[in-house]
Amino acid sequence: MGDHHHHHHRIVRVYYLAFAILLLLLGEGIAFGADNLSNQKLTSPILQDEIVKQVNENPKAGWKAAFNDRFANFTVAEFKRLLGVKPTPKNAFLGVPVVSHDISISLKLPKQFDARTAWSQCSSIGRILDQGHCGSCWAFGAVESLSDRFCIKYNMNISLSVNDLLACCGFLCGQGCNGGYPISAWRYFKHHGVVTEECDPYFDNTGCSHPGCEPAYPTPKCVRKCVSGNQLWRESKHYGVSAYKVRHDPQDIMAEVYTNGPVEVAFTVYEDFAHYKSGVYKHITGANIGGHAVKLIGWGTSDDGEDYWLLANQWNRSWGDDGYFKIKRGTNECGIEHGVVAGLPSDRNVFRGVNTSDDVLVSSF
Ligand SMILES: *[C@@H]1O[C@H](CO)[C@@H](O)[C@H](O)[C@H]1NC(C)=O
Ligand SMILES: *[C@@H]1O[C@H](CO)[C@@H](O)[C@H](O)[C@H]1NC(C)=O
Ligand SMILES: *[C@@H]1O[C@H](CO)[C@@H](O)[C@H](O)[C@H]1NC(C)=O
Ligand SMILES: *[C@@H]1O[C@H](CO)[C@@H](O)[C@H](O)[C@H]1NC(C)=O
Repeated sequence: MGDHHHHHHRIVRVYYLAFAILLLLLGEGIAFGADNLSNQKLTSPILQDEIVKQVNENPKAGWKAAFNDRFANFTVAEFKRLLGVKPTPKNAFLGVPVVSHDISISLKLPKQFDARTAWSQCSSIGRILDQGHCGSCWAFGAVESLSDRFCIKYNMNISLSVNDLLACCGFLCGQGCNGGYPISAWRYFKHHGVVTEECDPYFDNTGCSHPGCEPAYPTPKCVRKCVSGNQLWRESKHYGVSAYKVRHDPQDIMAEVYTNGPVEVAFTVYEDFAHYKSGVYKHITGANIGGHAVKLIGWGTSDDGEDYWLLANQWNRSWGDDGYFKIKRGTNECGIEHGVVAGLPSDRNVFRGVNTSDDVLVSSF
């Protein structure tokens, strides 16, 4: 009887192991699997006359292409490095809820929505940042959306730290400047919190030890200390209360942004996207270079009657439409409607004089 019991446990253990391996295998390469690019391709310039021509001469394109200054001297390999959304292992989503919204909210949704004007007191929503040369988009999209959500919920101006996430989340979030998983960023906010940009800035004032500096673009080290001596790391932490995926229906995505503020989205980037200047983007030409994450802040319909999403990128204002772009809405263009993640901010540590003594209880991810 005892033997039988033991045997049974071993089978269960083997079964679980096999199941875990299966999840890992399934998870790899399902999304954002970039095309295999030749060395010759990787060392050639990302911006090409031929692509600009092909897009601008296509009457059905719906958008304009140009030589964006931001990538003036970038090779395909340097551009690819910015696309830091790695294929998320399926098990990173274990236990992550999928949020959908009640039909009664959908009925109230406006035809056009821009979070910058809906919450005009929150200047962070319209901020355009620059990820440098580091594949940290997965962290930017998350930190920027969470900063906006703090302002929307608690009426406070705040910039949270990309560096904290990049340096201190470790392998659970991926590989720092070599790419990561958007959903894991939100789980980090929930379990470990994130300090302010003031405490742990992205670009440091010595010039070139920040992420994105040539030639090494290293992932920053996790120091867990504010640069300013009179700020405490633990007290600077701001937390999320939840981390979730938003159901892929456009109505659910709109309801989520309308109710709680900007969300982080991931999508596939093709060569033509580097040339985006204005209008409603859809993929026209070029190879699949990789997965990218940004912040979705609204939606609308163009003069030509094309439904779009409105997004803030973090490639500075010398890329795209002053740093922003629009992409076709409702057809899962480049997978954008299938990679929406977010979370809600927590009031813990937000109001001065509150107790932070429960910090020590948080240790597991
Ligand atoms: C690109 O490189 C050229 C030649 O090296 C230089 O003159 C130009 O200023 C560079 N442009 C940018 C935007 O860095
Ligand atoms: C955007 O680019 C300009 C010019 O290269 C640079 O001075 C500025 O610091 C960049 N913005 C950010 C947020 O890094
Ligand atoms: C945030 O800062 C901006 C500019 O300094 C200010 O106009 C706005 O009222 C502030 N918002 C909040 C919620 O404090
Ligand atoms: C914080 O917690 C300590 C110990 O539990 C308690 O004595 C103190 O009154 C609390 N402070 C506040 C501001 O709640």
